[in-house]
Amino acid sequence: MKSVKLSLSLIPVIVLSLSAGHAADAKVDVSKLPPAADKKGLSYDKDIKPIFEKSCFKCHGAEKQKGKLRLDSLDAALKGGEDGKVIEPGNSAKSTLVHAVARLDEDSAMPPADKGEPLKKEQIRLIRAWIDQGAK
Ligand code: HEC
Repeated sequence: MKSVKLSLSLIPVIVLSLSAGHAADAKVDVSKLPPAADKKGLSYDKDIKPIFEKSCFKCHGAEKQKGKLRLDSLDAALKGGEDGKVIEPGNSAKSTLVHAVARLDEDSAMPPADKGEPLKKEQIRLIRAWIDQGAK
């Protein structure tokens, strides 16, 4: 009787550890992204470059290209980094750059933890709207 009780009590532990392992592989939860800003006519030069300049250029600019990614020109940003494109024009929810700045997954959050201020919600919303409008 005692052993039956013990093995029954282990079931939740096994279920929990299985689902935790699965969560680590799972895709990021894009439902947690802040919504795109309600602003038309956004452009890289006018609206987005200043955000990247302040928060990203020191690692993704002329001097350093972490992850082989540069964000200091529109062409370079669209080209992406060592894992390919980070911006999907027209689809901000699929853009890994958006996942990174919204810190959906702390391991790939940008700027990295303790390496700079996280972007403000308003800035993330602007970046989303800009990408949804085609990343011009
Ligand atoms: C202190 C340095 C630092 C800052 C600041 C920084 N990054 Fe990064 N970034 C890295 C490093 C290191 C990597 C590559 C390793 C990794 O993925 O953690 C990387 C990788 C990335 C990638 C993935 C590139 C690929 O193809 O794998 C994206 C997207 C990215 N950064 C976006 C940003 C954005 C947007 C900002 C500004 C909001 C930013 N980063 C600020 C250091 C930084």
